[in-house]
Amino acid sequence: MRKRTLGATGLEVSELALGTWGLSGEGYGPVEEAEQDAVIDRAIALGVTLFETSDSYAGGEMERRIGFRARIGRTPPPIVVATKIGTDVNSSPVRKRFDAVWLKEAAERSRERLKRERIDILLLHNPSVATLARGELKDTMASICESGVARTWGVSVGTADVASEAVSIGAPVIELPYNTFHRREMVRIAADVKEKNIGILARSVLSYGLLCGEWPTGHTFPYGDHRKERWTQAELKRRIVQLNALRPSVLLDVTSLRAVALRYVLSDTLVSSVVLGPRKAAQLDQLLRDAGKEPYLPEGGRAALENRLRAVGVDV
Ligand SMILES: NC(=O)c1ccc[n+]([C@@H]2O[C@H](COP(=O)([O-])OP(=O)(O)OC[C@H]3O[C@@H](n4cnc5c(N)ncnc54)[C@H](OP(=O)(O)O)[C@@H]3O)[C@@H](O)[C@H]2O)c1
Repeated sequence: MRKRTLGATGLEVSELALGTWGLSGEGYGPVEEAEQDAVIDRAIALGVTLFETSDSYAGGEMERRIGFRARIGRTPPPIVVATKIGTDVNSSPVRKRFDAVWLKEAAERSRERLKRERIDILLLHNPSVATLARGELKDTMASICESGVARTWGVSVGTADVASEAVSIGAPVIELPYNTFHRREMVRIAADVKEKNIGILARSVLSYGLLCGEWPTGHTFPYGDHRKERWTQAELKRRIVQLNALRPSVLLDVTSLRAVALRYVLSDTLVSSVVLGPRKAAQLDQLLRDAGKEPYLPEGGRAALENRLRAVGVDV
């Protein structure tokens, strides 16, 4: 497993990370506990050292599970953990909270569940532009780091505007959605990422499974799967048709659409780690095989792929 440095933080992270939202059973539907453990254990065995989670995934259970699995037979655990705070899952309805008191207490609770001396990377979980613009969050996160609860901090973003604001407040790490069909956050902040040496964690690199290219045009999702609400049937069909148009020899020596999706993001040197979301150990194995080795794409491959995407109607 190759490693990259996480921006200016100095932390070394595996360039493939294990994200645990899908594993938690939220979002995509239930996953047996034994399979959750199998995926985490397999990731450790394959040399993944970065684990990504949140205090809201299964109400903190994924933090607990990572903390427990990582300690089996290993002291101290040779992993780096990124977790996210900023959600009160006990309120009804669940609400976002980014006040200093809440964040400090939430960070302590996450550290306890993870059973770690320090949380390596503590991220704000989907704040709005207005919340970030209020200004005190940088001080709050810096003080959590100074108190020794976290090593470094950052922002997990869902839109380009929030990504820009995260850059403005000086976040050392940004997690963002980034895939061949959705590049707008990365495109917006790429120059700043380079200049300020911001650590980038890229997630949703398969566009929630779409980019694996395994779905027929009439594909549907069961209730409880976030993808049922994410796309209308017409939008999903349009995307599948666009994806199918990429099939004929997109990149001569990259043989599957899944590999193309993964390697496109891995080939971006501004990315520190690609956060994968397998829900089965077998999926993790496939993803690691598909990631392959450097060079991830043949020379000129990124530009060729972007041209091809534009030609089939996909533009950032
Ligand atoms: N706001 C945030 O901070 C945020 C938001 C989203 C995600 N994340 C993190 O990023 C991680 C990954 O992101 P994501 O779940 O959004 O998207 P993703 O990685 O693009 O898609 C995950 C889905 O892809 C499918 N998949 C995975 N491996 C596969 C394989 N080998 N073959 C075929 N299909 C495969 C699975 O779908 P099936 O279940 O259909 O097999 C899986 O649920 C999450 O687990 C989470 O930890 C963070």
